[in-house]
Amino acid sequence: MIKAFIFDLDGVITDTAEHHYLAWNRLAGELGWNFDREVNEKLRGVSRMDSIRIIQAHNNVSLPEEELTELATRKNEYYLQGLEHISPEDFLPGAKELLTQLKSAGYKIALGSASKNSHKVLEQLQGKAFFDVIGDGNSVDKSKPAPDIFLFGAEQLGYKPAECIVFEDAESGVDAAKAGGFYSVGIGPEERVGHADLRFDSMKEATLFSVKSHFQDLF
Ligand code: G6P
Ligand code: MG
Repeated sequence: MIKAFIFDLDGVITDTAEHHYLAWNRLAGELGWNFDREVNEKLRGVSRMDSIRIIQAHNNVSLPEEELTELATRKNEYYLQGLEHISPEDFLPGAKELLTQLKSAGYKIALGSASKNSHKVLEQLQGKAFFDVIGDGNSVDKSKPAPDIFLFGAEQLGYKPAECIVFEDAESGVDAAKAGGFYSVGIGPEERVGHADLRFDSMKEATLFSVKSHFQDLF
């Protein structure tokens, strides 16, 4: 029986990908590095330090760890400036509606995000009250595709993975959900999240009714 839902943040609850793009792009510009939206797509669901490693590899550069940390910190300062512009209007269409439906139907809800800025983003959205548990980039060591962040959420809620449905927009996030034994809903194109148990193009189609209709036997 499904008792709880675990949501990724970036790309599921709100679209921060553009803010990440602008911040990485500013850093890359300062360094004279190549960076574009195609590379940015590869950073979906990927931790901050793994992101800088992907970007340096794209530029055939290999910097020492301390320098990479310094660059990632600088990018984060730019990203934080961008987050100031996020408001309660910036829930992805359908996301707030689904959270409201789940809450009033009595389901428990956890956040399972790789972002160390999750609290800040939820504060800007004024969306913290939806979540019984907030698992973020500080909660576990191993990032997606390891299932740890979702296992953390389920454990904190007091449910087994098979009692939870994970919502994810990243390929590595769906991998993580599957590795942990969770049911999964992918948000985005077939080529990215087609391996989820259920897929929607966007959060607009993700209603409690449409989810229940698919996972009938579990409700
Ligand atoms: C999410 C985003 C990634 C981002 C990661 C870490 O998973 O999809 O693009 O790199 O969080 O975010 P942070 O806010 O900690 O830099
Ligand atoms: Mg995401």
